[in-house]
Amino acid sequence: MKLEHGIISRVQQANDIVDIVSEHVNLARKGKEMVGLCPFHDDHKPSMYVNPDKQIFKCFACGAGGDVIKFVQMREGLSFMRSVERLARRAGINVNFSKQASNGPRSDVDSADIEKVNRWAMKFWQQNLQNESVGARCREYIQHRKINEKSIVEFGLGFAQDRWDDFLSAARQKQISEKLLLAAGMVVKGDGGLYDKFRNRLMFPIIDASSRVLGFGGRTLGEDPAKYMNSPTSVLFDKSNCVYGLDKARHEIVSSGRAVVVEGYTDVIMAHQNECKNVVATLGTSLTAGHGKLLRRFAKDMVLIFDSDIAGAAAAERALEICLAEMIDIRVASVPKGKDPCDFILSAGGEAFVELIGNAVDVMEYRWARLSEKFGNSDNLTDRRRAMEEFLRTVSTALKGGKVDAIMQGLIINRLARILQIQPEDIRKEIERRSRPIERAAANTIENVKISKIDTGIGFGAKAQEEIIEAVLNEPRLFESAAKRVGANDFDIPVLKESWQLLEQRLTGNNEFSLAELLGQVESQETARLIVKLSDNGQDVETLRKRLAGAVNALAEYNIKKEQTPDDLSDEELRKITSVKGKPDRRNPGLMPI
Ligand code: CTP
Ligand code: MN
Repeated sequence: MKLEHGIISRVQQANDIVDIVSEHVNLARKGKEMVGLCPFHDDHKPSMYVNPDKQIFKCFACGAGGDVIKFVQMREGLSFMRSVERLARRAGINVNFSKQASNGPRSDVDSADIEKVNRWAMKFWQQNLQNESVGARCREYIQHRKINEKSIVEFGLGFAQDRWDDFLSAARQKQISEKLLLAAGMVVKGDGGLYDKFRNRLMFPIIDASSRVLGFGGRTLGEDPAKYMNSPTSVLFDKSNCVYGLDKARHEIVSSGRAVVVEGYTDVIMAHQNECKNVVATLGTSLTAGHGKLLRRFAKDMVLIFDSDIAGAAAAERALEICLAEMIDIRVASVPKGKDPCDFILSAGGEAFVELIGNAVDVMEYRWARLSEKFGNSDNLTDRRRAMEEFLRTVSTALKGGKVDAIMQGLIINRLARILQIQPEDIRKEIERRSRPIERAAANTIENVKISKIDTGIGFGAKAQEEIIEAVLNEPRLFESAAKRVGANDFDIPVLKESWQLLEQRLTGNNEFSLAELLGQVESQETARLIVKLSDNGQDVETLRKRLAGAVNALAEYNIKKEQTPDDLSDEELRKITSVKGKPDRRNPGLMPI
C-alpha cells in the first residue's frame, strides 16, 4: 500500500494529540504541557508528557515517544498504515490506499469485504446460539464445558447449525456475492453446488487488536473427525500472524508486561473466566516469528504454556529461535499430567494456573534440560558433546538471522555458559565458528534494540552518529555545515541512518522543520523514540556546534578504521571499534571548523 502525498500531515493536523491521548489516558495540565500515567509501562506517578504545541508525546520513565500516529500505533497495536487509516477515518478524511501490485497474492476480493462478511457471520451464528430452540443443543454443550454466560458474550461465541445451507441461504437473502462467500471460506463448492463449510459447530470468532473479525474456529459438537475447522488463509487471515483472544487480553498484557500463550480456544476462555486475562492462544500452530513480533508490540515477556512435556519439547526449539532472533524473553511451562490449561483450571483453579505461569522456566534452560535428557543426562562425553552441538547450532542460527547486538550477545553467551557450565570464551568461539562474522554484523543491526543500548556502549562510531543527529535535531541550522562533511553512507546504524535521511529530506535548502512533521515520516517506533529522545536537549547553539564538530571527526575516524577490512583485524581490535564504551573526543572539538 502507498499513501497519497500530504496525507500524513493532514491526518496529523486533523487529530490533536491531546484528544487522542485523552481517549486512553487521563491528562492534567502542567505548565505548557499535559501529563498523565504512561500506558506503555506500569506507571505509578505520571511520567507521560504531551506537548500540544509540538504535537508530540514522551514518557520520561520508559522512553516511549512520538507523534499522534505513533501513539495510535503503539497503544492500539496497529501498523503505521492502519494507524494513519484509523486517524483519517476518525477525522472524516478520505484515504485512497493505492494497492501495490507486487505485494502478496493478487486477489480482487478486498480484506475489508471479507471482514464485513465475517462480522455479519459472527452475528448470524450468535443469533443461532441465542435462539431458544435452535441454539439449545449448543448451549447445553457450552454449559457442559463450564463456559459461563459472561464468556459467551465476551468471546462472541456462536452456533453453526447441522444443516447444509443454513448460512448460505441467509447470505443469499442478504445478497452477499458467492465469490465473497468463497473467499471468506464460509461456503465450499461441491458437485451439487455451494454448501456451508461450518456445520454443527460451536463458533469462535478470531478478533484482532483493532477489533476486526479475522476469521473463525469451529469446534464440532458431534463426532466429526475434524475436531476444529478454521477459516482459510486469505488477505485478511493468516494463522501464523494472529492469535486468539488478543482483543480481550491486550490491556492486561500491556499492564502486566507479559503475554501468556496457550494452545487452545477453550484454554483462553477458561483462563479469562478465572481472572487470568493476559492469555491468548496460537491457532493450532506452534509459535512463529510473526506471533513473536505481534505480541512484542504489547509486552516484552512471554510465557508459553504447553499441554504436555512432549509437545513442549518440540515447540521449545522454535520458541528458543524466536526468543533469540526477536529478542523476547520467553519462558515455558507445561501443564502436568497431559492436561490442557482448560482442564487444569477447571480442576485446580485460576490461582494454581497463575502459579504455573510464575514457575515457568527460561526457554534456553528448558531446551537444554530436554536435550540433556534426550542424550541420557549421562556423563558420557560424546553424548554431552552431541547435546551441546545441537544446542549451539540452534543458538548460532538464531543469532545469525536475528537482530542481536554485541552487548546482547555477550549476555546470551554468559547465560549459555552458566547453563552449560563451560567458559564463555569457549562458547563464543563455538558460536563464531558457526556464524561468522558476528561482531561485524552486530554494529549494523541495532534496529529494534532499545535505544538506551546506544548509550551503554555500542561503540564510539554509533555514539558519534547519535550526536550528529542530536545536534541537528536541536539546531536545524547546523544541518548545512554538517552535510558538507557527512552523508547518509557514513551512517551504519539503521535507525540513525534513517534519521539522517529524514533530516536530509526536510532540511536540504531549508532551515526549519516541525518535530511532529518529521515524526510523521517515520514508520518505525524505534526511530520515533530515538528522535523524540534526542530532540529538546536544551543546549545552546555554541555547545551543540562544538559537539557536532567533535562527532563529525569521530565518525570520520570510525569509518576509516572500518575500511581496514574487519576481517584483517584481531578480535580485540574489532571489539574496540564496535563495542568500546566511549564518546567522541570532547577535549579537542575544534579540529573541524563548523
Ligand atoms: N486445532 C485445530 N484443529 C484440530 C485440533 C486442534 O485447529 N483438529 C487447534 C485449535 O486451535 C485448538 C488447538 O489446536 O484450540 C488446541 O487443540 P486441542 O487441545 O485439541 O483443542 P482444545 O481447544 O483443547 O479443544 P477441546 O478441549 O474442545 O477438545
Ligand atoms: Mn486442549
